[in-house]
Formats: sequence, C-alpha cells, structure tokens
Amino acid sequence: MSPEVHVVVLAAGQGTRMKSRLPKVLHSLVGQPLLEHVLHAADAISPSTVTIVIGHGAELVRVKVGNRPNVECVVQEPQLGTAHALQQAEDRLAGRQGTVVLLSGDVPLLRGVTLRKLVEAHQAANAAATVVTAIVERPYGYGRIVRTKGRIARIVEERDASADVRQIHEINGGIYAFDLPPLFDALRGIASQNAQGEYYLTDLVAIYRRRKLPVETLVVDNPQEIRGINSRTELAEVSRIVRQTKNEELMAAGVTIVDPATTYIDPDVEVGPDTVIHPGVAIEGQSRIGAACEIHSHVRIVGSEIADKSVIHNFCLIIGSRIAEGASVGPFAHLRPESVVGERAKIGNFVELKKTTMGAGSKANHLAYLGDATIGERVNVGAGTITCNYDGTSKHPTIIEDGAFIGSDTQLIAPVRVGKGAYVAAGSSITEDVPDGALGIARGRQANVDGWVERRKARSSKD
Ligand code: UD1
Ligand code: CA
Repeated sequence: MSPEVHVVVLAAGQGTRMKSRLPKVLHSLVGQPLLEHVLHAADAISPSTVTIVIGHGAELVRVKVGNRPNVECVVQEPQLGTAHALQQAEDRLAGRQGTVVLLSGDVPLLRGVTLRKLVEAHQAANAAATVVTAIVERPYGYGRIVRTKGRIARIVEERDASADVRQIHEINGGIYAFDLPPLFDALRGIASQNAQGEYYLTDLVAIYRRRKLPVETLVVDNPQEIRGINSRTELAEVSRIVRQTKNEELMAAGVTIVDPATTYIDPDVEVGPDTVIHPGVAIEGQSRIGAACEIHSHVRIVGSEIADKSVIHNFCLIIGSRIAEGASVGPFAHLRPESVVGERAKIGNFVELKKTTMGAGSKANHLAYLGDATIGERVNVGAGTITCNYDGTSKHPTIIEDGAFIGSDTQLIAPVRVGKGAYVAAGSSITEDVPDGALGIARGRQANVDGWVERRKARSSKD
C-alpha cells in the first residue's frame, strides 16, 4: 500500500495586493472561491487529512469551508510567513507518516492529475521534498529555482534575488510534496533574515541540501497551471485563461461561439451541439443548454436548464428556471427563480416571470408580470397583464387554465382562477374566479357624450 497523503493548504495571508476586505482565497474565479478550486484539485489524491491554515478573515474562510470529511482549519496568528504557516499543521499531523502535499490557496489552476504526478514522482524518488516548478517567460514576482550541477540548490525570492538570480526563468510554483518525518523539525531551523522579515518555507530546500536530504523537482509542462493570484489584474488574467479553456472545449464539441473573447461560460455548464452563442453572453453555475439553441447577445443565464431548439433573444436575465424544447424568450425578458416555460411557449419583450409555469404553446408576448401563477396550455396573455400576487403581507396564487384568453391590461387580483377556455375582457380588474368558458369583464362602462367638443369650444370663446 502506498503511504498516506496529507494535504495542507496555506490560506492565512492577507493578500495585501488585492486591496480588499475579503480574504484573498475567497475571491471568486469563474463562480467559485479560489480556495474551492484548490480543494477540488486536492480531491484527486484522496488525502487522509486536509488542513487549511487560515488567519486573515479566518471566520469568513471557516464558514465558507463548512463541514467536510477529513478537513480541518487551523489558525495562524500572527502571519509570519509560509514556513510559519505550515508549522501550524504540526499538531494535527503529529504521529502520522507519509507524504505532506502543500498547496497554496491562491494557486487555483493546478490540476488533480498534476498532483497525482507529484505524489508518484516524490514517492518513487524517495525524496525528502519535491518542488513543483515551471519555466516561464515572465518570472517576475516568483521565487527562482537556483540549480547547481543541474540539481535544485535553493529557492530565492524576488525581493532577495541578485540581478543574476533574477535572470532565472525557472520559478517556484509554491506547491510541494514533503516526507513527513523530517519536516517539522527542519522547519524550526528556518530564520527570518530576508527582505520581508518572514519565515520562508522556500528556505527549507537549502536546509535539506545541507543535511544531504534528497530534494527533487517536478517541472510542469503548462506553466499556466501554477499561476498564483496576488492582484486583481492576475485574477482577471487567470479568469480569462479558464474561460478560454471552457470555450475551446465547447467549440470542439460542436458549439458555435461567435466571439469567445466576450463569452463567459462557467466550467460546470453543459451546452449541446449546434447551439449558437452570440457575443456578450454569460452562462453561470450548473446551467444546461440543449442542442440547436440560439442564445443571442447580452443574455445572462444562471443555474437554469434550456432544452433543445429554444431561442433566447437579446438582453434576457434567466435565473433558476427551466425552458422546454422549442420555446422562445425575450428580448428583454426576466425569468426569476422557479419559472418554467413549456414547449414552444413564447415569453416576449418586457415580460417578467416569478415562480410561474407557462404551459406548452402559451404566450405572453409583451409587457407582463406573472408571479406565483400556474398557466395551462395554449393560453394567450395579453399585453400589460399583471398578476397582483402580493397583498403587502403574503403571496397568493393565480391559476389560468388551458385555452384561456386574457385581454390586454388585465389585473388578476390573486388568489384567483380563470377557467378552461374562458375569456377576460381587456382592461379588467379580476377579483373573482371566471368559470370555464365564461367571459369575465370587470371595468367601468363607457359613456359617450354627444356634441361635447363643440359645446366646450363655444364656452371658451365667450370667456
Ligand atoms: C510564494 C513563494 C514563492 C513562489 C510563490 C508561488 C514563499 C516565501 N514564496 O510567494 O517562492 O514563487 O509563492 O505562488 O513561500 N500564507 C499564509 N501565511 C503567511 C504567509 C502566506 O498562510 O504567513 C499563504 C498565503 O495566503 C498564500 C500562500 O501562503 O495562499 C503564499 O503566500 P504569498 O504571500 O502569496 O507568497 P508569494 O509572495 O506569492
Ligand atoms: Ca502568492
């Protein structure tokens, strides 16, 4: 059996360069906190324990982490550097054996497969430490890997580096595997004589080399994977990388993305083949879009399902809703949570739905608010129809049965029901149920006053 693996995630730093009240590791990258990306990658090596070192904004981070099997938070206070941060995990790992994999809460693109490679290489080499490195074009800001005779000798931080060392393009990814037994004793040997006055974990490499303990490196092929996020600019750059990867995956699977640079699709979103996505579209959360759909420009879809052959016209906001096959929504429609649009149904411009079901083939083509309503099949909802679902205290339901026709500018004062095939006259304020097949009419009767205009003119000329 291969030795146990323990993961430690460093997430206590202030993230000064973010200039934020929110701890850095809680900043969102394509819909998930940075820390969540890291914990997800860690799953790939099935760790026996996961210890998250928290400090800055500790309570917020603890709440976000919540209760998960094998995961515990330890507090680092004050935050004296990465070596000091790792020391906080000592009690939790006391008496254990195996490999410690150290991850950084601000390095979110690291893939699970790379972590598996790291553990395998580290254990196969019987190393005391294995450092994940990459060769990059712009090494600025990262620790540099200094080698002698090809072997890693030490890591030098940007701020402590000589001009020569700054020329080195091999950087420290901040991800390591350590053999557990010698680790914590060696950490105590680290001093804080450096530009930042911090205890640098990176100093462990030179200490191990002095003690003749074997230190190895794993050079990743794709340096993007170990990009750290220290500023909002870097967060935006890394977001762009994630989006681009997702867009390329979808295009390879048969989705047309007219302008990938302005298309924002979260990693968990599914899109069927032959769907066309126009510029400026955002599809977020666990959304699923079917095949042969068309999503026009400036639409935002959050946690929703859209079946095959549906069309979403420009400028719609769709949250937590389901749209059946062949339906049409927008332009300028707002679907709030728990709305369901049936097959071939039409939701037109300036229509808002909330917790409302529209049956198959039903239409609300213009200017309507339909809240807490259950609308049957083949119903026509006229322009300007409003469900008055809220009486100031509670919400009430409206039911409109199959084949009903709601004339324009109707107010349906809930709770109320319009029966099968019934008609409601335009301009009605409906306060009572309309039976099946009946006409409901509830408005003031019109009176025409003959000759009124002429008489008015005559009056005003005398004044
Ligand atoms: C660190 C490495 C650097 C490497 C880079 C890769 C050190 C000294 N430097 O630099 O060689 O190239 O990562 O991204 O390790 N943290 C704590 N407690 C602390 C300090 C930091 O938990 O007292 C956490 C931070 O929250 C962060 C991680 O450790 O998640 C790295 O710290 P950061 O200050 O970002 O280090 P870098 O300067 O990026
Ligand atoms: Ca960093």
